[in-house]
Amino acid sequence: MRTPFIAANWKMYKTVHEAVVFVKEFRKLVQDVSDVEIVVAPPFTAVHAVAEAARSSNVGVAGQDLHWEREGAFTGAVSAGMLKEAGAEYVIIGHSERRRLFGETDATVNRKLVAAIGAQLTPIVCIGETLDERERNETLPVLDRQIKQGLDGVHADQIAAMVIAYEPVWAIGTGRNATPAQAGEAHAHIRSRLRQWFGGDAAEQCHIIYGGSVKPDNIRELSSLADVDGALVGGASLDVRSFHEIVTRGRRAAV
Ligand code: PGA
Repeated sequence: MRTPFIAANWKMYKTVHEAVVFVKEFRKLVQDVSDVEIVVAPPFTAVHAVAEAARSSNVGVAGQDLHWEREGAFTGAVSAGMLKEAGAEYVIIGHSERRRLFGETDATVNRKLVAAIGAQLTPIVCIGETLDERERNETLPVLDRQIKQGLDGVHADQIAAMVIAYEPVWAIGTGRNATPAQAGEAHAHIRSRLRQWFGGDAAEQCHIIYGGSVKPDNIRELSSLADVDGALVGGASLDVRSFHEIVTRGRRAAV
């Protein structure tokens, strides 16, 4: 049984104060929502304060990235253990903005994934094709490569416990979400590869969520697809009412 999973990726938005104000209001709005796993991913600076503001609520906290080393001379980086101690329970890995703007590769995704699991953070691993790749009919081979290399060496029971976010790069921040047919095809493909490479239990338990221009008016259609277990929401998660709408409309009978 997969409970729908809906996460807010705030990217480089919200000061500590803004993030705390959001969470104080938001936790009241969702206090009766027991059938959705809800997560917010603030910038590093606000992780601790948001975790404090969300304490004893049903809102979890994620980091947006991490470094794979435990500590060391890595200016600007934050480790899995540091995130965990600051109150995060989840971490986003391999977001397309990290891949495109910060040189992240499937190999670094893999190292970060191993570090996250080692620190008992639930990984939210992002995969997805660019527009060029889709137009060249390479969507499914690109997903295969990202899964194979990114998840290399990870055990089936760890796959079962993690979240994969399918985020077509051309749909992120563009207002152009994947059609239900496109999202459905990609999600079904990812799940079938998980089944093939990691076994049936891992494939059935792993959450595969969709990201890319998710809004209150398209979440219902997307989350009604059999293999879509929720959403990773950027722009539309910055406003408390809008994210609340997405959470309530994204509920569905757990599969
Ligand atoms: P968007 O971003 O909802 O603004 O398209 C999604 C994401 O980048 O995770």
